[in-house]
Amino acid sequence: MMRKLVIVLLSSIFSISLCYGDISLPNPQTKDGMGLFESLKKRASTPGGGFPIGNLSDDELSTVLWAASGLNRGKTGWTVPMANGKAPYVRLYVASEKGTFLYEWDGQYLREINNKDIRADIAMQNFTKRAAYSLIFVFDQNSLVDTPADQANDFAQIAVGAMSQNIYLSAAALKLSARYIHSIKPDAISQALQLPENSKPIGIMLLGK
Ligand SMILES: Cc1cc2nc3c(=O)[nH]c(=O)nc-3n(C[C@H](O)[C@H](O)[C@H](O)COP(=O)(O)O)c2cc1C
Repeated sequence: MMRKLVIVLLSSIFSISLCYGDISLPNPQTKDGMGLFESLKKRASTPGGGFPIGNLSDDELSTVLWAASGLNRGKTGWTVPMANGKAPYVRLYVASEKGTFLYEWDGQYLREINNKDIRADIAMQNFTKRAAYSLIFVFDQNSLVDTPADQANDFAQIAVGAMSQNIYLSAAALKLSARYIHSIKPDAISQALQLPENSKPIGIMLLGK
């Protein structure tokens, strides 16, 4: 009886956290699967108009986010290069039907921002709302305050290039659909994500299946 009660309590806590709170992600895939050279051969942007509306598994999402900016060497090594080995100064926000989250590489989880579906409001092209996930690249300018503004901006663009290519390659390896989108609505994103003043949305990556 007691065991049943504990299970019911735990599962209700779990479902509350799934709807309204942070979401812990499963361990990302870090071995096996498609080889790098085959992924390079398969890398492509999925056409916008026919972008599939299917959902990813949590394993797939976790793996793609890890590829984009996860820890791969202890506490200070990431899958993408960052100037002076700093922690990722371009952060990834995740917009989904369930709500909007910030990807936390430290702990591999999604921190809830809100429970609103903002996918239809953040980009210029209509098809973007079809994707199960929009991964939003946001430059945290506060993380590079000691770098001259022009150079900091270059660093952020380079980071988005590395992160988006890792997303493309991991998506190809997992047979997912992906497309980088630069035609975004930065003000709408800033408002929806309640971004602090020194944060700059740069682009988004559609992710689907
Ligand atoms: C900097 C950049 C900006 C892009 N912006 C958009 C965009 O706003 N909308 C869109 O549908 N695709 C966008 N794309 C995707 C490109 O159109 C796509 O990469 C290009 O057609 C080449 O196709 P491929 O990625 O399959 O090689 C962008 C790609 C890059 C690299």
